[in-house]
Amino acid sequence: MMINRAKLRQSFENIRSLTEALCDPLEIEDYVVQPIEDVSPPKWHLAHTTWFFEKVILEKFEANYKPYDPTYHFLFNSYYQSFGERWQRTMRGVLSRPTVREVLAFRKAINERMTNLIETCSDQDLPEIGRLITIGVNHEQQHQELLVTDIKYIFANNPLSPVYNSIIKEQNVHLPEPAMIQISGGVMCIGYDGNDFAWDNEKPVHRVFVDDFHISNSLVTCGEYLEFIRDGGYKDFRHWLSDGWDRVQQEGWQAPLYWSALGDEWQMMTLSGLRPIEAAEPVSHISYFEADAFARWAGKRLPTEAEWEVAAHNLNSDLQSANLLDTQAFHPLANKTSFLGNVWVWTSSSYSPYPGFVPEAGELAEYNGKFMSGQIVLRGGSCATPRDHIRLTYRNFFQPEKRWQFSGIRLADNLHK
Ligand SMILES: [Fe+2]
Repeated sequence: MMINRAKLRQSFENIRSLTEALCDPLEIEDYVVQPIEDVSPPKWHLAHTTWFFEKVILEKFEANYKPYDPTYHFLFNSYYQSFGERWQRTMRGVLSRPTVREVLAFRKAINERMTNLIETCSDQDLPEIGRLITIGVNHEQQHQELLVTDIKYIFANNPLSPVYNSIIKEQNVHLPEPAMIQISGGVMCIGYDGNDFAWDNEKPVHRVFVDDFHISNSLVTCGEYLEFIRDGGYKDFRHWLSDGWDRVQQEGWQAPLYWSALGDEWQMMTLSGLRPIEAAEPVSHISYFEADAFARWAGKRLPTEAEWEVAAHNLNSDLQSANLLDTQAFHPLANKTSFLGNVWVWTSSSYSPYPGFVPEAGELAEYNGKFMSGQIVLRGGSCATPRDHIRLTYRNFFQPEKRWQFSGIRLADNLHK
């Protein structure tokens, strides 16, 4: 495949500058905080995404390569055993140095070296460099989503309830009636089968049997979820998986993350500050356990990932109208009807390799495959996912108790009961 150097450079530069633009609303102190292990300091995201380009590409392909700072390889490696020792994940927030200014200088220097490499590398090296840059760009897009969700967690844990984004999108709600749509099953193909970029975990395309099923044309809303709460949903073990019920007890869950009681009403922390619950909005920041419990309470179930993918091909999965990062709402919106966007949908499928799965070559074999244990697949992208990052075959994955991502519910049901 011919690689266009100008397009590659443009794609690289666009992604690098968007990451920094996402940090524009931050004050310097916001960059360093790590309230829980899952939530990395924004400064760490800025540095780690830069380390990725230096380690994976420059170190191999730059003539007379010298590390920008050898200590950064230790500080900003995330989980790659094959790249050597690394700073503990739980301690990212104690690093007051390097400073934000130094990390931004690191980004600038690596950006210059990368663009120089794109312009001057041999035609022979270009295809492999292009392939790795595409992975690096997609990696950085994943961190853009994490930046948004981590900033939300950092702000939500501050009693001053800081505002990240003061522009609240209009939500003129003219929604179609919620309905369960019948989808015909059979032996279906799922997985990625195109020529553009996709992660190794989306491949290969393969056949699965999916029975006829129903899936909702809408996401579960805050209003519907409130009915579950008011009906004692968090107090009745019968709705819950055993591990989920244990979590409810241990963590004292009574509502989605970021919801707080205000008298008889509920309010929630958003990236636009604290505000009352909006009943028509898709519910977000719930764990797999909560999604599963809600579905059981509602007399339905979660879709499998195969069902979700088959349905996505059948229903309105318009990318342009979906609420994704580029919409800049930074919050689920009630008036979006695309099957994609708003919130990642918890499926009932464990994250495991597709038949014939082959991990990415070299060190990047660690990227996805080694996490295929104890996690659940989520589909569809969220209001924090870049528009040119999501696909119908995209498999996100988190442990079932995680709540800090924009994760929600789309109900499914058996056709034949
Ligand atoms: Fe990463």
